[in-house]
Amino acid sequence: MLTKLQELDVPCVEPAGIVQNRTDDTGNLLGAALLTRHLTFSLPYRALFSTTLRPQVAERFLDALALLLVRLHLSGFLWGDCSLSNTLFRRDAGSFAAYLVDAETGELHEKLTDGQRTHDIENARINIAGELLDLEAGGLLHPSIDPIETANSIINKYQSLWREVTEPVVVTPGERFKLYSRISRLNELGFDVAEMKAESNDGQVYLRPVVLEPNFYAK
Ligand SMILES: Nc1ncnc2c1ncn2[C@@H]1O[C@H](COP(=O)(O)OP(=O)(O)OP(=O)(O)O)[C@@H](O)[C@H]1O
Ligand SMILES: [Mg+2]
Repeated sequence: MLTKLQELDVPCVEPAGIVQNRTDDTGNLLGAALLTRHLTFSLPYRALFSTTLRPQVAERFLDALALLLVRLHLSGFLWGDCSLSNTLFRRDAGSFAAYLVDAETGELHEKLTDGQRTHDIENARINIAGELLDLEAGGLLHPSIDPIETANSIINKYQSLWREVTEPVVVTPGERFKLYSRISRLNELGFDVAEMKAESNDGQVYLRPVVLEPNFYAK
């Protein structure tokens, strides 16, 4: 699955091999294990939050997680277990990125339905709130970060990003700037617009991005 996600240019860890026939200390056979290449400079969420991370910076990492989920859903990937522990965070050259670590529960579809996306999002909301509550209980969370509100805000961010990426731009003659500003916003989010579909109705043109190509590594 990770290999397929890499082919789709989704930010995720790189598979390196599989260990078969593992045994425990008493010789009992264990399931196979997947080895992945260590993602350099990455931070697991426990390291991220246990430092004196400022809430504004934490928010940018969490925005990166919302964007990762949008990218995965656009590629038809239903994560099934989106959580902070199944994600790695990286900060490089002033940008914040989230990587998928654990694709064990994932399914790849041609296109996700709204119901599938909702299921994935609700699952993420519960997982993230639970993980943050856990950190809070352990005294590892900045006091100004509210676990439930933060989990909800990641999901709200996801919803608004999804709309930005998928909803049509409505352009009337003389409003071409609206199209340019949408394209530049999509570029900023890490997408190149390869194709747009135009429909006209009542003198207005509806332009919807239909083919988005990730320019993630160029960010
Ligand atoms: N390629 C990698 N580079 C850096 N860290 C990694 C990598 N793969 C996994 N990790 C770290 O190991 C943790 C657990 O990885 P993973 O989710 O794949 O294992 P798991 O057995 O499913 O564990 P869990 O039950 O906690 O989810 C991740 O949260 C991450 O911190
Ligand atoms: Mg995991």
